[in-house]
Amino acid sequence: METLTFREVTNQNFKPIIQLSDTLSDAQKKCVASNVKSLAQAYLNLEDAWPRAVYLGEEPIGFIMLHLHPDDDIPETDRPALYLWRFMIAGPHQGKGYGKAVLDMLVEKCRAEGKKTLYLSCDTDGPMPYRFYVKYGFIDTGKRDDDEQVLKIDVR
Ligand SMILES: CC(C)(COP(=O)(O)OP(=O)(O)OC[C@H]1O[C@@H](n2cnc3c(N)ncnc32)[C@H](O)[C@@H]1OP(=O)(O)O)[C@@H](O)C(=O)NCCC(=O)NCCS
Repeated sequence: METLTFREVTNQNFKPIIQLSDTLSDAQKKCVASNVKSLAQAYLNLEDAWPRAVYLGEEPIGFIMLHLHPDDDIPETDRPALYLWRFMIAGPHQGKGYGKAVLDMLVEKCRAEGKKTLYLSCDTDGPMPYRFYVKYGFIDTGKRDDDEQVLKIDVR
């Protein structure tokens, strides 16, 4: 597999990154905000948001955004934590193991920063992406956030 990296979104790559959202199916678009909306929210939450393009070699294939300081919403025993706020892999690149590899990189980032858990919330209308996360090892907390199911993984 070519190397996957997280890169900043800049004036140079802004357009291809926002266009990645157009590659999702209509059903998938209901599971994740458009990248342009996420970047607008990142601008409004400069202290907390960590938006990054996912590159395969020199090609942008996805987008993630972490919330770096979610601790008010996380039980004390799970802190400190990171929260995966947005995550998408472009349609033509799905089903090739890149999503799983990105989760590996995020778990590694959590460990490197001394975090205890990685949190996220996801749509449960269809089997995806819930099944993808559970297969990876995420645990259902039984809690809801904004009509989404909250999942977590212990990274220690
Ligand atoms: C969810 C998403 C990030 C997964 O990325 P991906 O690169 O397609 O996933 P991978 O190829 O790494 O698949 C990892 C595992 O999930 C499973 N999986 C992938 N797509 C699946 C599907 N449609 N149904 C069931 N299982 C699936 C794979 O079988 C694989 O399991 P394996 O390792 O045992 O083979 C991607 O489908 C996506 O961007 N979806 C649209 C946006 C979205 O829903 N984002 C999440 C917001 S919370």
